[in-house]
Amino acid sequence: MLYKSVISLVLATSSLVWADNDTKTKTAKLKDTTTSINPCSQRTTLREATAIQQLIACETLAGEIIITGNEVVALDLSQVEEITGDVSIRNSPSIISLNLNRLETISGSLVLNNNTQLTSIDLTSLTDADNLQFISLPAFSTLNLNQGVRTAGRVVLSDTALENLNGLAAFDTIDYMNINNNKNMINVAFSNLETVKDSLIISFNNDDAIVNLDSLKWASNLTVQDVAELSAQNLTAVNGSLQISYNGFESVNLTKLTNVGSSLQIFANDALISLDLHRLEEIGGELSMFNNTELEDAQDSFESLERVRGAVSISGNLVNFSMPSLNRVNGDFELRSTSEDLDCSEFDELHDEGNIEGHNYVCSHAEQLETSTAQATSDATTGSSDTSPDKESAGERLFVPTIFAAGIVAGFFFAIM
Ligand SMILES: *[C@@H]1O[C@H](CO)[C@@H](O)[C@H](O)[C@H]1NC(C)=O
Ligand SMILES: *[C@@H]1O[C@H](CO)[C@@H](O)[C@H](O)[C@H]1NC(C)=O
Ligand SMILES: *[C@@H]1O[C@H](CO)[C@@H](O)[C@H](O)[C@H]1NC(C)=O
Ligand SMILES: *[C@@H]1O[C@H](CO)[C@@H](O)[C@H](O)[C@H]1NC(C)=O
Ligand SMILES: *[C@@H]1O[C@H](CO)[C@@H](O)[C@H](O)[C@H]1NC(C)=O
Ligand SMILES: *[C@@H]1O[C@H](CO)[C@@H](O)[C@H](O)[C@H]1NC(C)=O
Ligand SMILES: *[C@@H]1O[C@H](CO)[C@@H](O)[C@H](O)[C@H]1NC(C)=O
Ligand SMILES: *[C@@H]1O[C@H](CO)[C@@H](O)[C@H](O)[C@H]1NC(C)=O
Repeated sequence: MLYKSVISLVLATSSLVWADNDTKTKTAKLKDTTTSINPCSQRTTLREATAIQQLIACETLAGEIIITGNEVVALDLSQVEEITGDVSIRNSPSIISLNLNRLETISGSLVLNNNTQLTSIDLTSLTDADNLQFISLPAFSTLNLNQGVRTAGRVVLSDTALENLNGLAAFDTIDYMNINNNKNMINVAFSNLETVKDSLIISFNNDDAIVNLDSLKWASNLTVQDVAELSAQNLTAVNGSLQISYNGFESVNLTKLTNVGSSLQIFANDALISLDLHRLEEIGGELSMFNNTELEDAQDSFESLERVRGAVSISGNLVNFSMPSLNRVNGDFELRSTSEDLDCSEFDELHDEGNIEGHNYVCSHAEQLETSTAQATSDATTGSSDTSPDKESAGERLFVPTIFAAGIVAGFFFAIM
């Protein structure tokens, strides 16, 4: 411990000495007698304190630099104003604090990964970060970010002890952000975020996490998992996929959402009783809903939904369920409810009129399971008995549902005998 303290003292002193340009040149000459490689722009892995010390005078880190090992406790890089290269600090069991308090811009990347003792990081001056990743830093609970990150490309925050995003989310647009497994993270508030160009993933942080995305207008992909509250009042489009799963909230109100470009998946939300997607008009991929065990009334959930370009696959305890605007499903359609009250007539009609294009159609509910499924199977069989070139593959696809339906029908007759 004494040894480590001495090293950090040495590091701190050096940074003071090296702060002056002239001293820097002299020291660099002294240190670098053999080659003229600039330590600030090398491609290297640094393990020893003396080697890491070479970075202390750097104002710009331009190299591909990996800092690792167990010799440094307080890593002081307080001369660094810019990272244009790729800097990674990883697999260090000794580093407790990181001082980058003059760093303003990361146009390359800064990745901190698997530093089990790292508790505090000073990024007081940081405003622009192209790629910033905090991964497996279980002690990391203090982040100083006075300015706030105003522009960001890719941000990953995984398995840290942070309780909120501090200034990490001051930007109004981002390409990719993944916040997962931060077990103390309760307040996930993006006060300015309007667009997400690639993906926003918020998964398995604190069970009580409160997510505020009220400024968000569109996201390419959005995943929300294990969250206690979600608010995204202004979200109008998810251009790619939207996944809402394993959450603890009772209601989802995405009342401005009109379009999901790819798949929409809503599953394993154990407490969900109310789902409001009443402006949603089109789903470009599949619609999948299951294991939302409390969801019984989704009568008005999909009021405006006209078209699903993929398959529809819904199962649950739905009592009331309707899609009054639906006029075309390009894939299969499967709706299974354990409730006897589910009314299949509107979907049967849609199917009869040929507006469900997939080969498989099932709408079933508890009591009349055999009627609907049998009808569905016979319709589907008719569909496949023509001599279309894809007869075989259609037959293959039908095989399982047909056997399944036959089994149920047989079981039913067996039961009433
Ligand atoms: C430090 O040195 C760099 C080039 O080596 C020069 O561009 C810069 O102006 C110097 N800064 C000061 C404060 O002298
Ligand atoms: C994390 O770092 C430790 C050394 O501190 C190392 O032993 C371990 O293998 C690393 N874990 C991973 C997943 O890289
Ligand atoms: C939603 O968007 C409108 C118009 O863009 C804006 O005035 C309003 O403040 C936003 N709501 C929230 C909660 O950010
Ligand atoms: C996503 O959809 C919104 C609203 O339709 C649109 O303004 C935006 O340009 C789309 N983004 C991408 C990346 O296609
Ligand atoms: C995000 O969505 C876009 C379409 O908007 C898609 O091309 C891309 O593959 C998606 N990315 C991920 C990681 O799902
Ligand atoms: C969603 O809307 C319902 C009905 O208007 C309301 O009771 C519920 O509190 C809303 N939920 C959220 C998270 O805003
Ligand atoms: C859905 O529920 C079933 C039965 O409880 C369970 O076996 C399955 O793992 C669940 N699926 C998901 C994705 O949670
Ligand atoms: C289903 O709708 C009927 C008629 O609107 C209503 O009386 C009943 O309470 C609803 N059931 C559920 C579980 O919401």
